[in-house]
Amino acid sequence: MQGAFDRRTTAEQAGRGVDLRGRHAIVTGANTGIGLETVRVLALCGAEVTMACRDAQRARVAREGLIAGAGGRVEPSRIDIAELDLASLASVRAFAAARTASARPIHLLINNAGVMLPDRRQTRDGFEAHLGVNHLGHFLLTLLLLDRIRQSAPARIVNVASDAMHFAALDEELTDLNWEARRYSGWRSYGSSKLMNLLFAGELNRRFGEDGVAAYALHPGIVQTELARDQPWWMLPVGLLMWPFMKGVDRGAATTVYAATAPELARAGETIYFSDCAPARTPKLAGQAGVAGRLWQRSAELVGHREQGQD
Ligand SMILES: NC(=O)c1ccc[n+]([C@@H]2O[C@H](COP(=O)([O-])OP(=O)(O)OC[C@H]3O[C@@H](n4cnc5c(N)ncnc54)[C@H](OP(=O)(O)O)[C@@H]3O)[C@@H](O)[C@H]2O)c1
Repeated sequence: MQGAFDRRTTAEQAGRGVDLRGRHAIVTGANTGIGLETVRVLALCGAEVTMACRDAQRARVAREGLIAGAGGRVEPSRIDIAELDLASLASVRAFAAARTASARPIHLLINNAGVMLPDRRQTRDGFEAHLGVNHLGHFLLTLLLLDRIRQSAPARIVNVASDAMHFAALDEELTDLNWEARRYSGWRSYGSSKLMNLLFAGELNRRFGEDGVAAYALHPGIVQTELARDQPWWMLPVGLLMWPFMKGVDRGAATTVYAATAPELARAGETIYFSDCAPARTPKLAGQAGVAGRLWQRSAELVGHREQGQD
């Protein structure tokens, strides 16, 4: 019911009445913050959920806490854990290989994990970390799981992006994606990776919408999570001042659950970017012909992914 929700809506309210029994969801970055709340609510709706996390011990603790806190409403067998480090393409490949080796369907892929860093860091494969973790890791993961997702249709892919995309430093030609030729800006690089999350969702719809796969991107709001953990100490007072005005994770996961489950979003239409469970404004570049396709191609080259039909 588009329009029935707003910024006060909680994830549980967004998922009310949704029956996900027999559906399997994978949530990346699921051991804390928005991802963990997303797992909790999808499981409450009846889904089987895989928590895809880089630190198995943190994931185990989070899973146990979730089950204990659910007061019997979440069957433990419905939630499993799998290791996935998006900063390593080898880890992404190993994760996807294990998923595709089993016959299990994938109805929902929630690309939620993310980092927000003040300085230039690199992934194991030499990519600037926002590009590598927030976009390329999820890009490769999604492509490697796509056949299974298409076989499981109707299916959805939800990219947790951010309104920080309005500060992106991307041009039409996608110049210097890896921040080698420019003065580095953590914030603009983060914003660029989040714009890539939106462009990627758009291109997924263009290529696979007819196959029953709908892809969305969203801004969760400004949410009380650990996202700012890497920011310098002098940012702490700013965070403390803002904290009371931020959404709790109960509301921070609402738009993710909405994009993943709302019946009216079964097929992706023109609007694929949401905030507060409602359509949200996107940067101009997102509407420019060819950019999303170019990003797809460039990303495939960067991660060394050859698509069917290429030799
Ligand atoms: N909080 C906000 O205000 C806000 C606003 C706009 C958008 N977002 C987006 O919301 C998403 C969730 O963030 P959050 O706010 O919930 O932050 P968070 O509490 O810091 O959670 C981030 C999650 O991502 C995981 N992660 C980080 N690097 C990873 C890697 N290399 N491989 C696999 N997982 C990795 C973290 O795992 P570890 O715990 O093991 O590090 C954690 O589970 C992100 O995409 C973020 O950009 C958040």
